[in-house]
Amino acid sequence: ALPLLIDTDTGSDDAVALLLAVAGDAGDVRAVTTVAGNVPLATATRNALITLELAGGAAIPVHPGCDRPLIRPPSTAQHVHGQDGMGDVGLPGPARGPADGHAVDVLLALSRRHPGELTLVTLGPLTNVAAALFRDRELLTRFRHVYCMAGAADLCGNVSPTAEFNVWADPEAARAVLRAATADRVTWIGWDVSRRDAVMTPGDQRRLEGLGTPMAVFAHRINRAVADWARDVTGLAGYDLPDPVAMAVALWPELVVEREPAHVDVALGDETRGQLVIDRRRAAPPPNVTLVRRVDEPGFKRLLFDVCARTPTA
Ligand code: BDR
Ligand code: CA
Repeated sequence: ALPLLIDTDTGSDDAVALLLAVAGDAGDVRAVTTVAGNVPLATATRNALITLELAGGAAIPVHPGCDRPLIRPPSTAQHVHGQDGMGDVGLPGPARGPADGHAVDVLLALSRRHPGELTLVTLGPLTNVAAALFRDRELLTRFRHVYCMAGAADLCGNVSPTAEFNVWADPEAARAVLRAATADRVTWIGWDVSRRDAVMTPGDQRRLEGLGTPMAVFAHRINRAVADWARDVTGLAGYDLPDPVAMAVALWPELVVEREPAHVDVALGDETRGQLVIDRRRAAPPPNVTLVRRVDEPGFKRLLFDVCARTPTA
């Protein structure tokens, strides 16, 4: 199984991504680091702990990290994922607390202890990764691969007309990561992918709930607030699953049906904040990321239902 480090601002779709990584057979999660984003840091940490317990990962350490973006004031997405980030369905708290060690120290330490072995998957704003990069410019080269749920390569945004939340929330951090990235090692999976290929239609939602296992019912319940938001705001045929898609691409790369190596930067100006700037000119600098553009939708959903149908022990 793939040794993984997961950085997350755990809200309802991050939680489903954690289920895939922990309860599926493809991942071996060594540590989870949390960051402010969807919800404040302490809430993200609580949600990660609750989810790991349910998925059979109660021994996986959870390390809290940065509680605000590098420069910008914090802004959450609680109007999307609920005040608690998990649809406000009254989940009981976790049985344990977070582990010692700040997320940034843990990213640095684990990447150095296991050079070239760990795959890093980021599901939130890139604050922790950027802060670690400022202390070690070679950080990204110490991972086997880095997958980031970040941006919207088709410029269809979910926070602004053109920007996706994770990049918009901390655009300076995203820029720092992009400027240290190389396309052979860093893969970006944007919101455009999930809104095209990972929309949970009402039929999918009924199917998930109907599986009846604790993980399937959990995944269904915590995403009901997002379903309401999606119906009222996005114009999609259901709610989408950005973080689970990014996780699935890391765990099952054969799901990718279209990719584009590209040179990507981030706009920082007021009107364009968080928008990806993709240079497709002939004289563009060398690609710094591989953008995933399409995934196999039936394949993704099959894996999602398969994992959620399980009942992990311990
Ligand atoms: C991203 O922002 C959050 O709302 C989701 O968890 C995902 O990481 C989508 O834009
Ligand atoms: Ca997230």
